[in-house]
Amino acid sequence: MDIKGAIPPREPLTLQGAAGISEIYIETGLLGRAGKAMLDVFSPSRVHIVTDSTVAPLYLETLAQQFTLPVSSTVIPAGEEHKRLSTVEGIYHDLLAAGMTRKDLIIALGGGVVGDITGFAAATFLRGVSLCQIPTTLLAQVDSSVGGKTGVDLDEGKNLVGAFYQPRLVLIDPEVLKTLPDTTFADGMAEVVKYGYIANPAILEMVSQPDYKAHIGDVIYECVKIKRDVVAIDEHDTGLRMILNFGHTVGHAVEKLGNYTELTHGQAVAIGMVAAMRLSALRGDADLSAPLITLLQQLGLPTELTHDREAIFHALLSDKKKFGSTVNFILVREPGRAEITPIEAETLHEYILKL
Ligand SMILES: NC(=O)c1ccc[n+]([C@@H]2O[C@H](COP(=O)([O-])OP(=O)(O)OC[C@H]3O[C@@H](n4cnc5c(N)ncnc54)[C@H](O)[C@@H]3O)[C@@H](O)[C@H]2O)c1
Repeated sequence: MDIKGAIPPREPLTLQGAAGISEIYIETGLLGRAGKAMLDVFSPSRVHIVTDSTVAPLYLETLAQQFTLPVSSTVIPAGEEHKRLSTVEGIYHDLLAAGMTRKDLIIALGGGVVGDITGFAAATFLRGVSLCQIPTTLLAQVDSSVGGKTGVDLDEGKNLVGAFYQPRLVLIDPEVLKTLPDTTFADGMAEVVKYGYIANPAILEMVSQPDYKAHIGDVIYECVKIKRDVVAIDEHDTGLRMILNFGHTVGHAVEKLGNYTELTHGQAVAIGMVAAMRLSALRGDADLSAPLITLLQQLGLPTELTHDREAIFHALLSDKKKFGSTVNFILVREPGRAEITPIEAETLHEYILKL
């Protein structure tokens, strides 16, 4: 990933959650100043950093050496398959061995997996310890590090156990994206495109430019602003927050059908967004799928639904966003405006067969 250009420091975005405020800083080179940024806000006696086996050799030392107080760490194996309760338990043991108390600080340094696990550990260890998120993937920077959703997977499904727990501080440094593999970067871009379609078409304009990576900090800023605004209205995911699932209903279905190995999450969301657009057209709205497909392809993402439609429908029905006999589908009828649309299962079945 070639990240050129730099964005100047600017005022943090703030998110007022029910249990307290979350401040989100987005600045190039911020990882190198993260220790100071944290000590301006927290007064811990010690800090514990959780990261994964890929991120640790890249950035753990850079962060750890900025503290003069005791620093301990847990390095978990990289990968979604480790987003489990057993990993959280390992973190609890490390926290106790390090002598961490409720006054201390836990830092999540990594992608969405590290962020979700560490957030859950911070929410539950001693009934809650201060948390700072330092997201290192594009997906984590534009989405998972903001908003306070934490959790782990069970055999029965993803994210089935968790807590809402706002990080007091989120430090986003776009420069760390330079070490991301291209496919992982493209995964995050699917979420970026999602934000453009659900709330701000200017984002689509920005990422359509050939040099958009030079301005990725600005793109991240615009996306985080949307996430912040949505979460501020619906922190506990009972209504509006559902619009963040544009592309995720069919996306989750194809991800599941591919046993979570055939497609990455971002690839599945890209395919899911195109399917949602086609579904809108089937309902009689304007067909907005062509420009979406062009953009996704430009960004290196797939767009075609290849799975059996019947299988997709059944996978989709077992998804947790189904209420009674209707499925809440997120539709975009004009770029920048998403609608939560309940669709009868039977009607949805007909649409899916036609996709
Ligand atoms: N909490 C939320 O609101 C929320 C929202 C969306 C997704 N999620 C969760 O996020 C997870 C996916 O997150 P992800 O896509 O970041 O995956 P991930 O955390 O598995 O990271 C992807 C890969 O990139 C590596 N990596 C991370 N930063 C790197 C860097 N700077 N350079 C090189 N390699 C790096 C990781 O080690 C990993 O191998 C899923 O578990 C999903 O459920 C949570």
